[in-house]
Amino acid sequence: MKAIAVRPGEPDSAHIADLEKPTVESIPDGKGVLVRVLKVGVDATDKEINEALYGNSPPGYDFLVLGHESFGIVEEVGPNVTDLKPGDYVTATVRRPGGSIYDTIGTYDMTSEEVYYERGINLLHGYLTEYFVDHQDYIVRVPPGLKHLHVLMEPMSIAAKAVEQAYEIQRRMKVWRPERAFVLGAGQIGLLSTLVLKSKGLDVYTLARSARGTLNSQIVEGLGATYVSTSERPLEQLAEEVGKADIIIEATGSSAIAFNSMNVLGHNGVLVWTSITGGDRKTEVPSDKINLDWVLGNKLLLGTVNANRTHFEQGIRDLAYGEVMYPGQVERILTNPVDGLENFAEMIRLLVEEKSALKVWVNVADE
Ligand code: BGC
Ligand code: ZN
Repeated sequence: MKAIAVRPGEPDSAHIADLEKPTVESIPDGKGVLVRVLKVGVDATDKEINEALYGNSPPGYDFLVLGHESFGIVEEVGPNVTDLKPGDYVTATVRRPGGSIYDTIGTYDMTSEEVYYERGINLLHGYLTEYFVDHQDYIVRVPPGLKHLHVLMEPMSIAAKAVEQAYEIQRRMKVWRPERAFVLGAGQIGLLSTLVLKSKGLDVYTLARSARGTLNSQIVEGLGATYVSTSERPLEQLAEEVGKADIIIEATGSSAIAFNSMNVLGHNGVLVWTSITGGDRKTEVPSDKINLDWVLGNKLLLGTVNANRTHFEQGIRDLAYGEVMYPGQVERILTNPVDGLENFAEMIRLLVEEKSALKVWVNVADE
């Protein structure tokens, strides 16, 4: 079967690889699930792996199959699979457990080991292929009523985890009543985080550079949040006008903005960093001022990566809420389809060149 793969370490090496179709028997305890892939989303991570900034092949291979945002249909299940059946729509988590205690209790997204195993990213093949098999523990059912949002399940799990982690850590406050959220960046993670924060009843300001009128700004407003163009109303000005934020989700992909956002967090607030910055840029920060403000304001900085099964499940509930409250908005994120695995060059071109693409995804097969 065909797959879109790269040779890690070699820039711009995307190509079609050939793989054997996996079987449910390859999972030892009878809990294997064979999934026929329908659609796979790609993001900056795939772009940077193709640029050879990171990513490693599985042992025994000189290529890595890309793709970590999966959507498919169950084709066959092993004899001991209890809660999935052929015909179910599903997505799959990305990371697989290592050996730390966090890995053994299902929170592999919090592994304390340096080496992590992620399908389509590091040491494990991804989903940009025709079929995949995995243990039922990593396969998450998608309700049929959300199948039109297909590849957004994984990005949504990232947003759900980011917000959940913030609420978890704010238990230090005994009572935490956040009112105002800033979301920095109106790409897929920014938009999906906007929805998660709206579902919690916050007043959400989502910021991006472009003037109002772009699709991103329309989706933000469609989700009941306020879109702020930073070229017209810089972050500091917004904070002066409406007050500092109780929670900030940073998802711009810029480490300079990540540091800069430390200036607009309110007392007792939490700043969540989600950007994966593969480069080596340096930036100057007013360290005395930030240090003083953060100490005097009991402020918190939280990094978050990946997501486990519970975040996928929570993200799916949040998407369902979104469809009820703001019908038709979230699917507008699915901007750029690519038809078939063989069109991998177009997939890469869109990732590299199409700056306005909110989501590039490959239609691997029709149902
Ligand atoms: C993925 C995460 C992953 C992270 C780091 C992101 O693009 O969505 O699942 O943990 O990259 O590899
Ligand atoms: Zn990703």
